[in-house]
Amino acid sequence: MNLPAGKIKKKVPTPCDVLVLFGATGDLAKKKLFPALYNMELNGALNAEVVGVASTRWDHDQFTSNAFEAIRARVDGVDEKVISALDKKMSLVVGNYEDAGVYAELAKKLEGKKKPVIYLAIPPALFEQVTQGLAAVGITKTARLVVEKPFGRDLDSAVNLQESLEAVLPEVRIYRIDHYLGKESVEDILIFRFANSIWEPLWNHRYINSIQITMAEDFGIEGRGKFYDEVGALRDVLQNHLLQVLALIAMEPPADLTSQFMEDEKIKVFRAIQTLSADEVVRGQYVGYLDEGGVAPQSKTETFAAAVIHVDNWRWAGVPFYLRTGKFLKETILEVVVEFKQPPRMLFADTQIGSPNVLRFRLGKNDGVDIELMAKAPGDHLETIPVQLNVEFSAALGERQEAYERLLRAAMAGDHMRFTRIDSVLETWRILEDVLHGETEIHPYFQGTWGPEKVEELIPQGWIEL
Ligand code: BG6
Repeated sequence: MNLPAGKIKKKVPTPCDVLVLFGATGDLAKKKLFPALYNMELNGALNAEVVGVASTRWDHDQFTSNAFEAIRARVDGVDEKVISALDKKMSLVVGNYEDAGVYAELAKKLEGKKKPVIYLAIPPALFEQVTQGLAAVGITKTARLVVEKPFGRDLDSAVNLQESLEAVLPEVRIYRIDHYLGKESVEDILIFRFANSIWEPLWNHRYINSIQITMAEDFGIEGRGKFYDEVGALRDVLQNHLLQVLALIAMEPPADLTSQFMEDEKIKVFRAIQTLSADEVVRGQYVGYLDEGGVAPQSKTETFAAAVIHVDNWRWAGVPFYLRTGKFLKETILEVVVEFKQPPRMLFADTQIGSPNVLRFRLGKNDGVDIELMAKAPGDHLETIPVQLNVEFSAALGERQEAYERLLRAAMAGDHMRFTRIDSVLETWRILEDVLHGETEIHPYFQGTWGPEKVEELIPQGWIEL
């Protein structure tokens, strides 16, 4: 029997008293997690010990000095008092993840702790082994588990991974990271849509012509060849980051902001998207990719992916959503461009053609919103000229918090709001299922361009640039 799942008063979750970082000497820990922990300590928000677990045979001093070096390289004006407070909270367990001894040692360290949070900053291929090791010593009885994306590599593997995780702990204690959901700029889409009443009447197929979502990077795979070659742009970015952004743009307002209602609305969007076919996707690979370290000599992994997606529901029927992502493109950009329809009658026909209103969410470093409107061009005649209204959020509102800090804090506090639920993750894999398993051609492109020319067939009117 399914019990009613409407609004209920939630209990306050038990806060985490120890954070366990698997992969503590790895890249993610260095670039994102330690700087996030530093900021938490600085803001008095780190009320837990931090136990690193790693197969690299470092001693305590090597571990902490590497972590602190990583923090100093990424945080401006590091306060050494905060570093020494962090130092007192940190320790390391070393050993091979195949070895039962590591888990036994970890269990000893966690004695007396009520709510461990286990963060798996390790290759997904190791998730099963590590969670079983944790279960064998009883750690999964109370722990929350944080796992990085991509969750699986396709629908079947995600189902299998979920089954193996759920064999040792329930879905409510699994926190799937998609760090875009931790970005304040991405959350702003919700505020923009649901805290302002002026957009809602326009937010549908009657007034919107297309939606274009771009995550472009002007750099390559940065030494991550071995990881990236197994994954590619579809699994690395499109299946997760871009589809999550699409869902926030397309979803109906949730009944409230609990993760349950948020995910309920997002999943309706995903369900309304048909499984993509080969002609709705373009895959590309930059020239030079095959020479990168860790990449297979004949690799067919895509470093660029674009797709046209239709959300077949009442609100969005007939509005194409164009998505693109890629490495070594012309610029680094993270944005959503909403293209409105032309006015029904072109009164100023000479100059008005081809200039619909455009709304742009800038979601990257310089986040903000731009709106392109028509104004009267100076001079005798009634001619139009596009002008822009812009707001730069950092100038208007101050600096944003880092996504990883917000996600760590949320997982440690037991707040699911910024994490993805298994049913919606499975839907996103289902959307890509045929493309991931079919034979789509891979088109080469030169570095510093906007990807393969083939993409023009997908989006005949071209990408809008403001
Ligand atoms: C990660 C991808 O999830 O997101 C990387 O694995 C990508 O390939 C990165 O570079 C981009 O994140 P951000 O926050 O810089 O847009």
